[in-house]
Amino acid sequence: MTTHKNILAISGSTRAQSSNLNYIRAITELTKADFTITIFNQLAEIPHFNPDLDTDNPPHAVIHFRNLLRQADGVLICTPEYAMGVPGTLKNAIDWTVSSCEFSHKPLALITASSLGEKGHASLLETLHVIEAAVRDETQLVISFAKTKISNDAVITDEETLRKVQRLLTAFAALLSDKAT
Ligand SMILES: Cc1cc2nc3c(=O)[nH]c(=O)nc-3n(C[C@H](O)[C@H](O)[C@H](O)COP(=O)(O)O)c2cc1C
Repeated sequence: MTTHKNILAISGSTRAQSSNLNYIRAITELTKADFTITIFNQLAEIPHFNPDLDTDNPPHAVIHFRNLLRQADGVLICTPEYAMGVPGTLKNAIDWTVSSCEFSHKPLALITASSLGEKGHASLLETLHVIEAAVRDETQLVISFAKTKISNDAVITDEETLRKVQRLLTAFAALLSDKAT
């Protein structure tokens, strides 16, 4: 019997019609037997990181974000690349966890779903490695021309992409089980 895992999913795009949000929705459907996925949609409410505010009493939105990360068995990030880098809102949220270490050893799956995506993906992987997130080669994926590979109602329509996402999810489930033992 599989134990249900609680996954916090973060879209690096705050756009209402975001394809990254749609990939999270597709993954929610694909994994419903094994994962309970909670979508974190308050990225834009997290204030600009300022070390002066990173005290024992940080802003409320930061406390909330950190608590959700702590409670999750694993984290799924789906993000676009902006201007060849990581979207600022996502990087800002991650910066708030550097001192508090919520990502440390946390099983993590990273999908960069973008027009291109390689550079933002590489940059985010470097950040995730520095903060010791448990992201493996098998739990990261770039989906280029991402909008053309998923429908508006969150079905991955490109067969090769679907296969790659399924492979990533299998590896993510294995990583989550390893960490539980
Ligand atoms: C400000 C901005 C900058 C962008 N820069 C890049 C880029 O450097 N590389 C890339 O692959 N796509 C870039 N894009 C296109 C996004 O990848 C594309 O719009 C993607 O679908 C956005 O993700 P979303 O649908 O989840 O919002 C950019 C889009 C915006 C709005």
